[in-house]
Formats: sequence, structure tokens, C-alpha cells
Amino acid sequence: MNINIIKQLMFGCLCALLLAACSTTDIETLQSPDGALTLTTGIKGGKPYYTLARGTEVLINPSNLGFTLNDGPLNDNFKLKETHHSTFDETWAQPWGEEVEVRNHYNELTLNLEEQDGLKRRLSIVFRLFNDGLGFRYIFPEQENLKDFIIMNEETEYAFPQDSRAWSIPTNGTKYYEAIYTSSPLSQKDTISTPVTLEVNDSLYMVLHEANLTDYASLNLTQKKGGATATLRAALTPWSTGEKVFATAPFVTPWRTIIVAKKPGDLLLSRLMLNLNEPCKLEDTSWIEPGRYIGIWWGMHMETYTWAQGPKHGATTANTMRYIDFAAKHGFNGVLVEGWNFGWDGDWTQNGDNFNFTRPYPNYDLKKLADYARQKGVRLIAHNETGGAATNYEQQLDSAFSLYRSLGINSIKTGYVNPMLDHKELQHSQYGVRHYRKVIETAARYGIMVDNHEPAMPSGLQRTYPNLMTQEGLRGQEYNAWSPDGGNSPSHTCILPFTRGLAGPMDFTPGIFNFKNPVFPNTHPQTTLAKQLALSVVLFSPLQMAADMIENYENQPAFSFITSCPTIWAETVVPNAQIGDYVTIARKDRNSENWFIGSITNAEARTLSLPLTFLDKEASYKATIYEDGPGADYKTNPYPIKISEQEVTANSILTLQLASGGGTAIRIEKL
Ligand code: NOJ
Repeated sequence: MNINIIKQLMFGCLCALLLAACSTTDIETLQSPDGALTLTTGIKGGKPYYTLARGTEVLINPSNLGFTLNDGPLNDNFKLKETHHSTFDETWAQPWGEEVEVRNHYNELTLNLEEQDGLKRRLSIVFRLFNDGLGFRYIFPEQENLKDFIIMNEETEYAFPQDSRAWSIPTNGTKYYEAIYTSSPLSQKDTISTPVTLEVNDSLYMVLHEANLTDYASLNLTQKKGGATATLRAALTPWSTGEKVFATAPFVTPWRTIIVAKKPGDLLLSRLMLNLNEPCKLEDTSWIEPGRYIGIWWGMHMETYTWAQGPKHGATTANTMRYIDFAAKHGFNGVLVEGWNFGWDGDWTQNGDNFNFTRPYPNYDLKKLADYARQKGVRLIAHNETGGAATNYEQQLDSAFSLYRSLGINSIKTGYVNPMLDHKELQHSQYGVRHYRKVIETAARYGIMVDNHEPAMPSGLQRTYPNLMTQEGLRGQEYNAWSPDGGNSPSHTCILPFTRGLAGPMDFTPGIFNFKNPVFPNTHPQTTLAKQLALSVVLFSPLQMAADMIENYENQPAFSFITSCPTIWAETVVPNAQIGDYVTIARKDRNSENWFIGSITNAEARTLSLPLTFLDKEASYKATIYEDGPGADYKTNPYPIKISEQEVTANSILTLQLASGGGTAIRIEKL
């Protein structure tokens, strides 16, 4: 591991291995380091369970744990053999992220369980309690009577003492995790995918998700029973044959995570998911280059260009050179080109086996373009659409990545436009999870960064493989090109940071400046222009796209915000937030003393007060404010934008006037 990038600062870890054996009691408790959260766990009637409380407030009632395996239950015949308590405290540094340092501080409790009779199989459950929530996972130790096994169901439950308002996407009928997050009482939800965000009351917000999804199926949640309260249980994504997970002991599951926060904004600052992933496995991360990119992309979605060959083919040598020139002129370090390789002609979503990831179309001079880009300080981003043909892609990974490397191409955008990989397995099944991991690991070996579209839901793997830069798995900008419902509603991006955004960086691709749609005139971004700017800050992505066709940026003063805005940050604060209504995020650049702020609202125009208390108290700054201009309104008049400058200090309080569907973007430079 490169200690310049990932320096592990140990503050005082591994303090006490307190209790070694505790076979006389069936109840154990664990507290968070600040004492605010309490976990209780134990065995009742042979069944393992847990509860969670914040002070005297019960967050989770007794909830069952365990599995149903192919040969029956592994959850109803246990005794507690021993328990271990420990505590851990370290601070680690992220090569890129929303801040540099992350504190990983938790108290841990491990239950070692053994079946009371019969096969006497063993199972361990590890709980880590942080100040901002809980993580727990199952461990299947190596043992005589449990070698190869099949998980038919994970029996993890979440029993809530009351109902709450919950934001989620449905599992059934949702392709590619690209649904709108909707809120309704948790008790009325059908099967839903995680992350699930709960507003329990004014001072209690919780998020259910998972961390370190490795060789397992993605976590969905389903109702155990309806009524005034809600009890959810795990519903893992199955293989086509119905099994959930094929495993061999020793084996560990992903972590089940529950973030607990007092304010919505605090959810955005939790790094619990990252902390529950393994430290960086890459020895050298110096080749990883976050940055801003443009692409021959929106033109396809506007049907100005085609991916396939023909008179409107977008990926021509001349067009790509135009994009490279533009990128070089405006300081973008990447140019994505879609439709450059053989495989797009015909129905590529069904015939993914035709994709060839090393063979460019004849009118795309790959070598010349890669050289041209490099001379100009720009890199091509190779698009690898697979049409869901995962095996075809796996067979070409080595040849494709070594070619890209040899040409100086250090990032790819992968795509899986077919919800069934290899026409049979779901993207979020164990099959899919294994495939995506293989791509990430192989890319890391070749020094290639990955932007994964149509992924399994992210779970923080970028800590371990920081070449996994960003992912889709959300309803992104492309829906503003062709969605029959007219595009993403104004509230969509006010919900994403509190839901999908908590699973990791989002390649939403903000930055559309021209809202005219030649094909579907009623479909376009449901935002003002100023909100498109603000999204570059609000929606974190270390590879951040400016999504429009380059001609739409010419002579646009507002473009200067995008070209000045970094993509990775030294610090993040959330001064205003209400899920689905509005959010303001302020982020400090890693390479200067400058701050960038994005504030967005839903369809409601509103005024927000923004105290700049996060600035250095000793300094003065120049603020350049890009705000909705007179008459701006996402429905009728999205373009007016007012750009102004003023001097500010940490004592300044800005008043942000956000239009309906609008936003404000601010650059604050230290004087
Ligand atoms: C869906 C991706 O999200 C989009 O970005 C891409 O242009 C198309 N697939 C084609 O690969």
C-alpha cells in the first residue's frame, strides 16, 4: 500500500480484549464509543437476536438473526459458546473522497454460537457499534460438518417499534436500480432494495444498507408483517435457480449496516460503510486520477449521433479530435467516447456477444486519437458496453485492458444494458457481484479506473479498490433525454444524496445547458440552469462529467463554474438539508483553500440562509455566486442565471434565493 496516499494513523487501537468466555449468560451488551448507542444481543429459544437503542429510545426491537440453508434452518438451535469484546480506533486517509481523513472508531462484540445438538455447526456474529451506527456480519468458521453450503435465505430481521417515513426503490420491476426513490410509510412498502432511508421523527434518521458486498447476493428487504409497526427481513437477490448464495466455509457475509443520525445532513457525513470495507489493497495508487470529463454521449441520447455505424456515427476520428481540443482548452482530463468499437450494429442489448473491446470501427483511429489526446494532456475514456454479455467481456478483459494501458488510456466506463447477465442472472445476484468484482480487480492490475454503469448496488468497495471511481445504479441524467414521463422530477436530486448517494459516488452526469430536445420535446432536465451547476457539488463523483454536447457550452459564462470545480475534496459540510426538499453542501478543495457550494431545491422556490462559519476565521474570500436569475423557473424559464461577486468572511451569512426547481452554485476563493 502506498503510505503517501493511504497512511494509517493509529490513535490507540486494539485497547482491550475484555471478556474471553461468557457461556453462563445468554445476553450481551455493547455500547458505541460515545455511549449513546446500545446493542443488546443473545440467544432466546435457540435463536440469535439483537436490539438497538439510543439512550432510552428503542431503535430496533428484538430481531432475529441466522440463515436457512439448503438442508434446513441454521438459526433455531444455538447456544452461546463464547463472546469477545474489543475496541478499535484508527484514522485512515482516502486517496480521493469527500474528505481526506476518516476516523474508524468502534466497539466490537463477537458471539460464537454452536448448535446445541445434531451437527453442532458453528456460526459467529460480529457486531461493530460506532457513534453513527451499527454494522454486523456473519462468519462461518471452518468446520467438519459445514463445508460447501447453500444459503436459501438470510434470516436477518429489522423489527421497528414504530412505523416511519421511508425512502426506497422497489426491488421487483426495477431494472438497473434506476427507479425514483419514493417515500411512504415503511409498513406499506413491498420488497425494497437498500439503501433504505427512514425518517422516524424530527431527531431520528436511519439508513439500512450493506458494506463490502463480496461473493454474495445483494441485500433487499421485505415485510415480515404489516400493521402499525414494520418488521423487515432480508430478501437476497436469487440465482435463476432460486438459491441465494453458494459458499464454502470459512466464509464471511457482507456487513449489514444501520446508520443512525439526528439530522438528515449528518447521514451524508457518515463513513460507516467505508469503515466496514477492507483497507486499500493496491500497493500504488499514484496512477489514480480523479477529474472532470466530457464525452460524445448526450448527442447519442439526443439522437444527434448514433452509437452504431452510419451517417450519424458519433465516434468518428474528427469528432473525437474536436472533443479532445475542447477538453484541453477547458481543463478537462477525460473524453468519453461511446460507440467506438465493433458490436453496436443491430440490437446490441440482446447481442452483447458481438461486442469487441479491442477492435475500433474503421472511422475511429484509436491509436492516433489516444496519442493526440495524450499530447494535449487529455485521456480517452474507453467505453465498454457489454449488453449484459458478462462472459464475453470477461474473456476479453486482459486483451482490452493491456491495449488501453499501452495507449495511455487509464479509465473505462462499463455498461450492462440487459438486466440479465449472460441472459440468465440478475445483475445484483451473486453471479453479478462476482463478475463486477472480477472487472474491478483486473482493471486494478492494469492500472485502470472504472466507472461502472448498471452495477450491483455499491457498498463501499472503493476503499479497498480505489480504482472503482464511480458508478451508476441510479436514475441519471439520461432519463432527461428520453423518459416518457418528461424526465427526473425536481425532487429527485434532493432525495439522491440521502439514499443512493449513501452507497457511494454517483455518475449522474450533471451539466446540461441546452434543454431543447429534438426527439422528445417534453422531456428535458426538470431544473434551472443554475441547478445543473449546483449538482456538480451536491452529487459527489471523483470522475465528474459535464454531460452536454460541447457546442452547448460555447459562450456560456455559467460554464466557468464547472471548469473551476474540483471533483475530490478535503472537507465536506452540510449546512441545510431536508430529504426530498432541499440540500446545501459545501466542500473544500484538496489543492487550495477554496470552497465550492451547491444548493438545490425541489419544485418549491425557497430562501435559505447560509452562514459561512466553515471558512477560516482569519481570512477574507471572494465569493462568485451563480444563482437563478429573474423569472427563473424550471418549468417555464430555466435559463436565467445571475453571476455576481462579493467579499465574504466566516461571519458572512448569505441568503440563497432558489427558484422553483432551482439552485445556487458558489465558488469561494481565499484572498
Ligand atoms: C446506459 C448508460 O447509463 C449510458 O450512459 C450509456 O450511454 C448507454 N447505456 C449506452 O451504453
